Amino acid sequence: MSMSKDIFDRIEQISQNIAAYEIVNAEQLEKFRIQFLGSKNELKGLFGEIKNVANDRKKEFGQAVNALKGKAEEKFNTTKASFSSGSTATKSARLDMSQPSRPAPIGTKHPITIVMNRIIRIFERIGFTVAEEREIEDDWHNFTAMNTPENHPARDMQDTFYLMNSTEQLLRTHTSSVQARVMTTQKPPIRIIAPGRVYRNETISARSHCQFHQVEGLFVDKKVSFADMKQTLLYFTREMYGADAKIRLRPSYFPFTEPSAEMDVYWGLEDEHAYRITKGTGWLEILGCGMVDPNVLSNCGIDPEEYSGFAFGMGIERQAMLQYRINDIRMLFENDVRFLKQFNSAF
Ligand code: DAH
Repeated sequence: MSMSKDIFDRIEQISQNIAAYEIVNAEQLEKFRIQFLGSKNELKGLFGEIKNVANDRKKEFGQAVNALKGKAEEKFNTTKASFSSGSTATKSARLDMSQPSRPAPIGTKHPITIVMNRIIRIFERIGFTVAEEREIEDDWHNFTAMNTPENHPARDMQDTFYLMNSTEQLLRTHTSSVQARVMTTQKPPIRIIAPGRVYRNETISARSHCQFHQVEGLFVDKKVSFADMKQTLLYFTREMYGADAKIRLRPSYFPFTEPSAEMDVYWGLEDEHAYRITKGTGWLEILGCGMVDPNVLSNCGIDPEEYSGFAFGMGIERQAMLQYRINDIRMLFENDVRFLKQFNSAF
């Protein structure tokens, strides 16, 4: 009788041991398995004891030992499953702080950013500094200060997004607005480039979009000449498109410059692509430029008798599309990762 009691106490004790057994890693799980489920496990010894159990309790004994085995199996299986599903508690307990970290995937730069950064670096080398300004502008900085008063026909050149219920607040239509921001707050000599996003109410197609990017340049000092402008733009073109790149300036019109010009780069006619993008001329327009109109200087509080300057503005999408042979501008705004991850650059 007392023998039976002892053995039932042992079963109870083992049952408690199983419940209390701490398993937080694979090693402990394996130890647990060996101790309670392995070929020489603790429970096996118990089965051999059945001969010492009183006859009227043998059945009860058999059931208790089986239940014990079931309990060990259950604990083993659920713990193992929780390890492989990686529940946080077990995961953090298994964290090996000495393991080298996995490299995090690094994103790539957007082609617009790459081209814009290249342009910025080129101008920084000759003393231009970056001026970044707001995209939500007022009418004065975007148009009026830039010699484009209300009802001026040039306002039709740019279909503008006005903010709701406002004739004053708008999304800037060009980075030329930064010229007005800078000239009203800084004294000459001024030598800035202004990269950024601009907006126009245009129908979206493969060739045009309602948002795009420009880089504006402005140089104001005493005795700044058209020749200074031409030389600066030639320097830029050679840095950007190669030492033997050629440019030409064609007379043009902008309200904020006088005289005004558009600059073409010689792209050549070497292949069909070149033929198509230059419309068979070999020349490609990349920017507008000119001498800052004296009205613009005086609108911004700079004396045109004392100072003169040149300015230019170029589109970025066009240049990125040329460089990477992208034939649909919309790809630049859709942010499809399969497209974007093809671009890689230190710029
Ligand atoms: N703002 C003009 C545009 O968006 C580009 C431009 C032309 C900028 C001549 C200038 C400039 O600074 O001098 O089409």
